[in-house]
Amino acid sequence: MGRALREAPPAGFEVVAPSRAELDLSDAASAARWVAARPWAAIVNAGAWTAVDAAETCAAEAWAANALGPAALARASAERGVPLIHISTDYVFDGGLDRPYREDDPVGPVSVYGASKAAGEIAVAALNPRSVILRTAWVFSPWGANFVRTMLRLGAERDALSVVDDQAGCPTSALDIARAVGAVCARLGEPGAPSGVFHFAGAGETTWFGLASRVFERAAAAGLRVPALSPIASSDWPTPVRRPANSRLDTARFTRTFGLAPRPWTQAADEVVDRLVAAAGQEGKGA
Ligand SMILES: NC(=O)c1ccc[n+]([C@@H]2O[C@H](COP(=O)([O-])OP(=O)(O)OC[C@H]3O[C@@H](n4cnc5c(N)ncnc54)[C@H](OP(=O)(O)O)[C@@H]3O)[C@@H](O)[C@H]2O)c1
Repeated sequence: MGRALREAPPAGFEVVAPSRAELDLSDAASAARWVAARPWAAIVNAGAWTAVDAAETCAAEAWAANALGPAALARASAERGVPLIHISTDYVFDGGLDRPYREDDPVGPVSVYGASKAAGEIAVAALNPRSVILRTAWVFSPWGANFVRTMLRLGAERDALSVVDDQAGCPTSALDIARAVGAVCARLGEPGAPSGVFHFAGAGETTWFGLASRVFERAAAAGLRVPALSPIASSDWPTPVRRPANSRLDTARFTRTFGLAPRPWTQAADEVVDRLVAAAGQEGKGA
């Protein structure tokens, strides 16, 4: 997401992206130093411990990055009257609801990652009244480790893939989240600018199998060899952390407040697949 913010910065703002050496979320003093370094128009916290399964055995590190770090950023930014936009996750919910989650539905994390992110939200909301907590889900992008990139890599290596088909969610492009952050930033100068929790995720819904199917349809249309796909149940793909069966987020409050509606996840996924296919083609030519 940090890469996406650099590629698509909020209109009228310069994005300064600190390295971990410059801002270590697990070191409150380092977070406070960064906030004090310049008269920032806003702080966007896109950093987090995101290794969901590993968090179960590295709980202290996950809590430091996801709860204590955001608390330090919130305290330091509030002291200077600087708004804080904090990115959070559908994993604060247990996934048991039979409709998309709204902002005021009670949280009930079922993992260390989810609990640490929920604690981060509470700290941010309590410590900085000028904060916006943006929950999102199923993030993909042309960069880093994410499901779309993993599918394309595995698809190039294997003839057949099995993908979980009993978890529902709203796949979201990191570039679209960057645009959502831009919409939040556009309102920051207003007296009484919106604050609180908002959901932003791709429009529509699918399963991981549905997302994989879309990725490979698009890749096949671009001439890539793609694997045979089969749907499986979560119970056939055991992981240390049980993923929420329902990760769908209701984004109506965000759209109402900031005037930006998320675009369909299919369109955003196609765009990222096209970029990755084009980049692979360029690499192939260079080799
Ligand atoms: N990925 C998803 O599907 C998803 C879904 C819902 C919500 N979110 C939320 O979206 C936000 C962005 O996630 P992402 O997908 O962009 O994850 P990501 O690719 O794992 O990026 C997280 C970034 O945080 C940095 N980081 C980790 N620990 C840090 C620390 N102690 N100090 C400073 N930086 C640290 C990482 O640095 P290194 O590169 O040095 O490790 C990395 O650059 C997070 O708040 C996450 O909880 C993600």
